[in-house]
Amino acid sequence: MLNFTFKNRTEILFGEDQVQEIASRLPEHANVLFLYGGGSIKKNGIFDDVTKVLSSVNVIEFGGVEPNPEYETLLRAVQVARDNQVNFILAVGGGSVIDGAKFIAAAVNFAGNPWDILVSGAEFSDPLPIGAVLTLPATGSESNGNSVVNRRETAQKRAFGSDSVQPVFAVLDPTYTYSLPPRQVSNGVVDAFVHVIEQYLTYPVNAPLQDRFAEGILQTLLTEGPKALSTPHDYDVRANVMWSATMALNGLIGKGVPQDWATHMIGHELTALYSLDHAQTLAIVLPSLMFVQREQKKSKILQLGERVFGITGEDEGRCIDLTIKAVQDFFEDMQVKTRLADYQIEKSSIDDIVANLEKNGMTALGEHGDIDLAKARQILNLAA
Ligand code: NZQ
Ligand code: ZN
Repeated sequence: MLNFTFKNRTEILFGEDQVQEIASRLPEHANVLFLYGGGSIKKNGIFDDVTKVLSSVNVIEFGGVEPNPEYETLLRAVQVARDNQVNFILAVGGGSVIDGAKFIAAAVNFAGNPWDILVSGAEFSDPLPIGAVLTLPATGSESNGNSVVNRRETAQKRAFGSDSVQPVFAVLDPTYTYSLPPRQVSNGVVDAFVHVIEQYLTYPVNAPLQDRFAEGILQTLLTEGPKALSTPHDYDVRANVMWSATMALNGLIGKGVPQDWATHMIGHELTALYSLDHAQTLAIVLPSLMFVQREQKKSKILQLGERVFGITGEDEGRCIDLTIKAVQDFFEDMQVKTRLADYQIEKSSIDDIVANLEKNGMTALGEHGDIDLAKARQILNLAA
């Protein structure tokens, strides 16, 4: 096992009506930026719940954070936060709103060009504290320090990460996910599944506990994910999906083990160039990446096949093929298509995707740093 440090500062408030707990967790003299997305929370009652809980607190609303949060929009929110001397951000939404909150939190007291936080890891100080009310289980953003921001102007999707912007609390009320459209339920399950894979499907380092954590989350998503589509108002199903997605990327399962993240990095270029949903990009890239990296990942693919999908009794090559197919079939069963062509992206576009990877310095990806531009091209060609 590799050396590690582990601390997760997010207080999880899990279960129905836990939103009531928010008020007691705000700072004294709170001046809250209430950040949300395109308005789904106004239709499903979450906006009213939060407004009620904050009735005695000074609140400045900022709505309109887009899926794949847009840099320009977030800069406007930074200005609003500065103008109103906000001292706390409450992010109510999915990963995009929570990621947006982290960028705003970092940029408010940053004197330089905020873009540098995303492209050159510029250091910032005194970020605002954040609380989250999660409405879409997927990214784990409610309980990690990562933030991914999109900039349409330059067709770039860039990330930064810092413990200092990790939410101090996160409300996880499974009933808040009942109103999700099926496409977002599917996206969430696929994203969480791939988060586990990025931290598990590398090479063995004799870390059996991390392996079992990871396999437990994968198995839970495999059984509960389809149920979230077929019986959307089943509280227990929603609760199990929600907790799985948080556990998939709150840091725990990735401690002491190698990590990959190449699927995510290649996927981000597909969103930046073609506005695909984040999970759609992962469903396209992962099966082909597994195929291209089958030698490097052999031992873990065989373990995934046997322990998670029950694939045994064949020669190794066949087991690997069947495991890759099982992963791809799961995405398709979850109604997330797995080919570039399914999203009308032509093979001729692969040049542009590879050029964007190069522009963003994504030239040595994966747990061995061996996914260079040629290999990325091979993966994309296979996914065409
Ligand atoms: O904008 P609103 O109106 O809120 O609608 C959203 C949005 O249209 C809707 N939605 C959310 N909760 C709902 C709901 N609709 C009805 N009922 C509800 N309860 O769902 C749509 C998608 O929301 P979004 O927040 O974009 O989805 P998700 O949570 O999948 O977040 C995706 C973003 O997170 C980033 C992705 O790159 C992408 O930008 N990621 C963040 C990570 C992190 N912070 O650790 C890791 C991930 O790998 C990922 O990269
Ligand atoms: Zn993801």
